[in-house]
Amino acid sequence: MENKKFYITTPIYYPSDKLHIGHTYCTVATDAMARYKRLQGYDVMFLTGTDEHGQKIENKANEAGVTPQQFVDNIVEGEKGVKDLWKLMNISYDRFIRTTDDYHMTSIQKIFKKMYEKGDIYKGSYKGKYCTPCESFWTESQLKDGCCPDCGRPVTDAEEEAYFFRLSKYADKVRDLLENTDFLLPRSRVNEMVHNFIEPGLEDLCVSRTSFKWGIPVDFDQKHVVYVWIDALFNYTTALGFLNDRYDDSDYNKYWPADVHFVGKEIVRFHSIIWPAMLMSMEMPLPKHVYGHGWLLLDGGKMSKSKGNVVDPYLLAERYSADALRYFLLRDFPFGSDGNFSNELLINRINTDLANDLGNLLSRTTAMANKYFEHSLPAEQASGKEDEDIISMAGALRGKYEAHMEKYAFQSALAEVFAVIARANKYIDETAPWTLAKSEETKPRLARVLYNLAETLRICTVLLTPFMPDSCVKIFDQLGVPSELRTWESAAEFGLMSKNASLCKGENLFPRIDAAKELAELEALQEAKKAAADTEENAKETNTNMPAPMEITDHEEEISFDDFCKIEMRVCKIMNCEAIKESKKLLKLSVFDGERERCIMSGIAKWYKPEDLIGKNIGVVVNLAPRSMMSGKYVSEGMIFAADTTDGDASIAFYNDDTVGMRIH
Ligand code: MSP
Repeated sequence: MENKKFYITTPIYYPSDKLHIGHTYCTVATDAMARYKRLQGYDVMFLTGTDEHGQKIENKANEAGVTPQQFVDNIVEGEKGVKDLWKLMNISYDRFIRTTDDYHMTSIQKIFKKMYEKGDIYKGSYKGKYCTPCESFWTESQLKDGCCPDCGRPVTDAEEEAYFFRLSKYADKVRDLLENTDFLLPRSRVNEMVHNFIEPGLEDLCVSRTSFKWGIPVDFDQKHVVYVWIDALFNYTTALGFLNDRYDDSDYNKYWPADVHFVGKEIVRFHSIIWPAMLMSMEMPLPKHVYGHGWLLLDGGKMSKSKGNVVDPYLLAERYSADALRYFLLRDFPFGSDGNFSNELLINRINTDLANDLGNLLSRTTAMANKYFEHSLPAEQASGKEDEDIISMAGALRGKYEAHMEKYAFQSALAEVFAVIARANKYIDETAPWTLAKSEETKPRLARVLYNLAETLRICTVLLTPFMPDSCVKIFDQLGVPSELRTWESAAEFGLMSKNASLCKGENLFPRIDAAKELAELEALQEAKKAAADTEENAKETNTNMPAPMEITDHEEEISFDDFCKIEMRVCKIMNCEAIKESKKLLKLSVFDGERERCIMSGIAKWYKPEDLIGKNIGVVVNLAPRSMMSGKYVSEGMIFAADTTDGDASIAFYNDDTVGMRIH
C-alpha cells in the first residue's frame, strides 16, 4: 500500500539580510512537524527556500556594489548563509526553492498569463505619488512629511499603467473559506482577517510594477515585472513541478494540495486571502491549512536589524547545540502566540529540562546499570507497587503527544513528555535503587527498576526525536535500543525492550551551563552588535513601489465603546522639539493642543530629526497620566501616534493646519 502523503512548507525567506532567530523558529517548527510525520510513516515533502526578487534586494545590492544575483547568492549559499544555517540547525528539508531559479520564473510567467487570459488579471492604472528624480511611486502613507521618503523631495500626483488581479471577485468565496472551514488556524486569526480586510471590502490588487527591474518580467509585456507576492506564493506549487520541467509534475499531482503552510502572523493575510483567491482563479485545489504562528519578540518588540537587536541563531546553536536551541524554541513559546525571547529563558530551559531532568535521568539510569550489573540487566526481575504509575504514564504518552502534535501544539506535546521524565526521576527517589543494590535479595527488584527507567526513557526518546534528532540517537545508543524499537509504533507500548537490556553510560549530552557567566558573555556580544548597528547607516526597507500593504495589527484585548471614549486624542502642533543629552532615543517635544502647550517625551530620535518635526501637526493622546522620566528631570504629558513599520521603524502621520486642537475619534 502506498504511504500517506504529507506536504509542509515554511515561508520563503527574504535574503536581504542574514536570517535571525525568528526565521529559525518557524523553520525549526516546520522541521519538527516534518520529522514527526516521517516518524509516523508518512511520505513527507518538506519545502523551504528564499524569496529573492523585489525592490529591497535591488537597493541592497546597489548599496553593496554588487548585482542583485550576486547579493542573494551570497546570503543564500555563502558562508553562514541561509543554507549553512539550516545545515547547522539540522533542518531536513526535501527541497529548497530560490525564486530566481529559472524553472520557477518560467512557471510564474505562465501562471500570470493564464490569469490574464482568463480575465482575472487586467491592465489598469495605478494612482500614487511620484518622485521624478527617484523614478518612484509612493502611496500617501509611505511619504515622509509629504515628500519622497528616499530623497526628501516633493512628489506629484501621477498615474502609471499596471496590471491588477480581480481580488474583489473572490471576496465572498474567500470569506466563506475563512469563516466556514478550518483552512486558517489558529481559529483566532480568522476574525482578524475578516474584520480588518474582508469587511472593509477587498479591492483589486496591483500585481505588476514598472519602476524597478529585479523581478520576473511579464512575458507578454516586458516592461512590467510580476508583483513579488505572486512570484513568492506560487513557489509552493512550482517547486513541485507545476508548469515547469525542472521537476516532474507528478510531484505536483502527488503532493499538492499542501497539508499545511506554516507562516508568521504578519503574512497570514497574503496566505489566507490573496493565495486562495489566486488558486481559485487558477482552478487549483486549496491548501488544507494555513497556520499563522506568533512572533518571537525581544524586550516586547519586534526584532529588527535596524534596532540592532536581532538574535543570532548561529551563535546560540554553536554555543549550546542545535538540539538544545530547537528544543527551547518549541518548548518555551506557544506556537500560535507571541513570545518574549531572552537568553535567560534559553539557559534556564537547557539547565532545568535538558541538563537536570532528561540528562540526569539518562546518566543515573545508565550509571546504575554499569555499576550494579556491568551494563546488562539480568532477566530475573521483580515488579513492585511503585511501578504501576510510571508504566501507565509512559504507556499513555504517545496518545497524548499525538493529540497535541496534530494541533501543532509543540509546547504541550513536549510538556507531556517532560512530565513523564519528571515522574521517572521521582520513581528513582521512591524506589531508592542504591538501597536495593545493597543486598543480593533485592537485586531482581533493582533490575526491574532500571528496566522500567530504560523503557520509559526509550518511549520518551522516540517522541523527542522530531525535536532533538541528534541527541536522541545518542540516547538510544546509550540505552542499547535496537532500531526496531526506535519507531513510532514501538512508542505505543511499554515493555518491548528485552529484559537483558544492555545499557552503557556515555558522554554527558546536556552539560549544565554556568548561567551567570554565560549571560554576561552573551550580553557583551549583543552589546557589541548593537553598537555596530548604531553606527551603521541603516538602509531602510523600501519594497516601496509595491502597493502599500494593508496595516497588520497585533490586537489588544477588546475594550468597550465607553472605555474608548475615555481616550482623548487631539491634533497638536509641534512648537518646539529638541534632542536631550541624557538619552539617544528620546526627543523632547513641546506641543500645542489647542488650549495649552504640553511637554511630550517620545522615543523617536532614531527616525526623526527635531528640525523635521517643528511646525508639523501630529496626533496625541492628551489625557494620559503624566509620567516622570529621566529620574524626574522631565515629565511627559502625552503620547504621540506613530506606526511601527514592519522594519521596526516608526512612522508618524501628519495632519493639516486647520485641524490643530481638534479631537480625533
Ligand atoms: N518572503 C516573505 C514570505 C513569502 S512566503 C510565500 C517574507 N519573508 S521574511 O523573511 O520577511 O519572513 C519570513 C518568515 O519569518 C515570516 O513568516 C515571518 O513571520 C517570520 N519571522 C520573521 N521574524 C520573526 C520573529 N521575530 N518571530 C517569528 N517569526 C518571524 O515574509
